[in-house]
Amino acid sequence: KPYVVGMDIGGTNTVFGVVDSRGNVLASDSVKTQQYEQIEDYVDAVCKKLIPLISQFGGAEKIKGLGVGAPNGNYYNGTIEFAPNLPWKGIIPLASMFEEQLGIPTTLTNDANAAAIGEMTYGAARGMKDFIMITLGTGVGSGIVINGQLVYGHDGFAGELGHVIVERGGRQCGCGRKGCLETYCSATGVARTAREMLVQSTEPSLLRNIPADEIQSKDVYDAAVKGDKLALDIFEFTGRVLGEALANSIAFSSPEAIILFGGLARSGDYLMKPIQKAINENVLKIYAGKTKLLLSQLKDADAAVLGASALGWETKAE
Ligand code: BGC
Ligand code: NA
Ligand code: ZN
Repeated sequence: KPYVVGMDIGGTNTVFGVVDSRGNVLASDSVKTQQYEQIEDYVDAVCKKLIPLISQFGGAEKIKGLGVGAPNGNYYNGTIEFAPNLPWKGIIPLASMFEEQLGIPTTLTNDANAAAIGEMTYGAARGMKDFIMITLGTGVGSGIVINGQLVYGHDGFAGELGHVIVERGGRQCGCGRKGCLETYCSATGVARTAREMLVQSTEPSLLRNIPADEIQSKDVYDAAVKGDKLALDIFEFTGRVLGEALANSIAFSSPEAIILFGGLARSGDYLMKPIQKAINENVLKIYAGKTKLLLSQLKDADAAVLGASALGWETKAE
């Protein structure tokens, strides 16, 4: 079978594509994730677009497997469990739902794990045996690779760095707890910081031209590019919180590199400089100057789809 399908389920978009054995995404399409409150409607909507896409390549018979990356995805069970940024609550047996509708063997993993696989196979982590992938999107995710292997852990959920608590009694997180890294360093966290800082200071800022509840991390970036002091402070703060958490994560697995991925990671030096500074200031001496801080070498959507698609090859034969 010459092809696999990769799918990335994000808090905003679900992207899927047909991929060949050399890692070319031959055709892709997407649906808006939040539009479907019922999981059955969501699966139907995805299949309605995916089936015609697959038929361009000879249909399900030509597809070795479907690999899915999803927030709170469980590799062992093929489930999504209690995802804070998805509409469907509880435990969703998504892999078997797709398998039934498409007739294609389906493997599911955490979205950041899928990105790590994509980076390892096609990107900045080629040849690396130890690295940590950090995804900065609606949430904050991580994929941890040790000795060349993705770490899944006892229950299949290893690597949820977005939910390490960085501030005791801090911001409310979608996971039900308070002060998680993702409430500060995700794209939505940056917008929250902007809203807080705008209230706390009287400093003039371009961000004051936008209704507070409509501010997005992209607006903060645009303002920073124009030299807006408050926007630069927001990135300083975000970078410091993330850098401190990364300095801690280095102590877990002694990675060769930490690779940042996702829209927010494209904020350039505004974010990278404070992250690097906080890592330098907080990392244990034995690691000092040793861990590279890199940007993903793959286009965001592709890395996730590609990474997920790599799981499609892994799929057990029928
Ligand atoms: C979820 C993770 C996911 C990350 C990025 C977090 O809220 O708990 O599983 O990897 O968001 O989507
Ligand atoms: Na993970
Ligand atoms: Zn949390």
